[in-house]
Amino acid sequence: MMRTRPLKVALLGCGVVGSEVARIMTTHADDLAARIGAPVELAGVAVRRPDKVRGGIPAELITTDATALVKRGDIDVAIEVIGGIEPARTLITTAFEHGASVVSANKALLAQGGQALHAAAERHGQDLYYEAAVAGAIPLIRPLRESLAGDKINRVMGIVNGTTNFILDKMDTSGAGYSEALDEATALGYAEADPTADVEGFDAAAKAAILAGIAFHTRVRLDDVYREGMTEVTSADFVSAARMGCTIKLLAICERAADGESVTARVHPAMIPLSHPLASVREAYNAVFVEAEAAGRLMFYGPGAGGSPTASAVLGDLVAVCRNKLNEATGPGESAYSRLPVSSMGDVVTRYHISLDVADKPGVLAQVATVFAEHGVSIDTVRQTGKDGEASLVVVTHRAPDAALSGTVEALRKLDTVRGVASIMRVEGE
Ligand code: NDP
Ligand code: HSE
Repeated sequence: MMRTRPLKVALLGCGVVGSEVARIMTTHADDLAARIGAPVELAGVAVRRPDKVRGGIPAELITTDATALVKRGDIDVAIEVIGGIEPARTLITTAFEHGASVVSANKALLAQGGQALHAAAERHGQDLYYEAAVAGAIPLIRPLRESLAGDKINRVMGIVNGTTNFILDKMDTSGAGYSEALDEATALGYAEADPTADVEGFDAAAKAAILAGIAFHTRVRLDDVYREGMTEVTSADFVSAARMGCTIKLLAICERAADGESVTARVHPAMIPLSHPLASVREAYNAVFVEAEAAGRLMFYGPGAGGSPTASAVLGDLVAVCRNKLNEATGPGESAYSRLPVSSMGDVVTRYHISLDVADKPGVLAQVATVFAEHGVSIDTVRQTGKDGEASLVVVTHRAPDAALSGTVEALRKLDTVRGVASIMRVEGE
């Protein structure tokens, strides 16, 4: 039975994502109504610049007073696609206080203040859904929160930033340097004018915090996520990676420790074997590899950004939240009952690929090997290439705690015979 009174939606933000949400809400109005069981009506659109032309949106719906819009009292769902921390946080809380559920795409806010927002939603009997906050169009939050709710997830490893994947893919396939690849990403509209959040790994770290929290039913704050960007990755690293049958990706990795007693979350560039499913994720695509006890290995793949793909995820949430409203119910809230401690990067067990410039004389290799042994790090392979009395030494280790590996590198830097550490990269996915 179709309810005739429409559910009213406040759209907070009408930029890259919001304008696509408005367009699809309008063009697919009948389908959305049929799927929800009631029509959905765009009741207002809050923006910063009211005079900007916004095709298809009636001028009388546009407002610069987002607070007044969410305080109207007749709004059923607020869609927050403004981004950033404030005013988004206050608007979401105000929406809950005035009887609206919220759909948001704001990973920065959810990673930093998700706990308080979930608590506010619960207090006011409203939903907080945010499928679009991680990996754009790819259904990931709901599969983790609902489809895998009966399983035990041990690892989530993914490419969750399209801009950096585009840059690394260009460097790999065309031999371009970082700056050249970044320029191309900017020209194509992938990278923003200030690409810091993407290339320094902040965007991926926010997504890792959200994924780890959901996967392990525990609170993971943004500060708990170890983060390294990809600006130091060079063309030479790709040459080394290729020699090992690997490529380089910026990975977000959330893991349960082997004893199950703690978790870790980290973002950094890493070499992965070409045979790993994540190695073939090209251009600005995202993909997330989930390892669960009963389900085994699952891979989620698709467009991780862009107005229309992200709007798809927002609208999926809108339909779910509206259905809940009609049923006078709410969907799953925060699940943090596990309360597992989040360990530091030093406890992560991984492998290193270390490239050293060393003096090419007797005993150097033995000296280098001794440093590894002293730190309890086992060497897997060593490759040496001579060049004018010096040599380039590439050492790949077996798995060891990250603290032992970084201690090894620190000690290597102090050896007279080590002229420099050309690159250090973790090796994952084997
Ligand atoms: P945009 O910068 O394109 O749009 C932001 C919108 O918010 C604009 O319409 C802007 O108004 C409006 N706005 C800004 N400040 C205010 C304010 N104080 N009051 C009312 N409106 C305001 O951002 P995106 O659409 O790209 O991103 C939106 C959210 O979606 C972010 O959280 C982002 O992280 C997330 N996201 C984005 C993806 C993408 O590919 N773009 C992918 C996944 C998630 P005006 O138009 O007047 O400037
Ligand atoms: N800047 C992000 C990216 C947008 O490149 O993936 C999606 O969150």
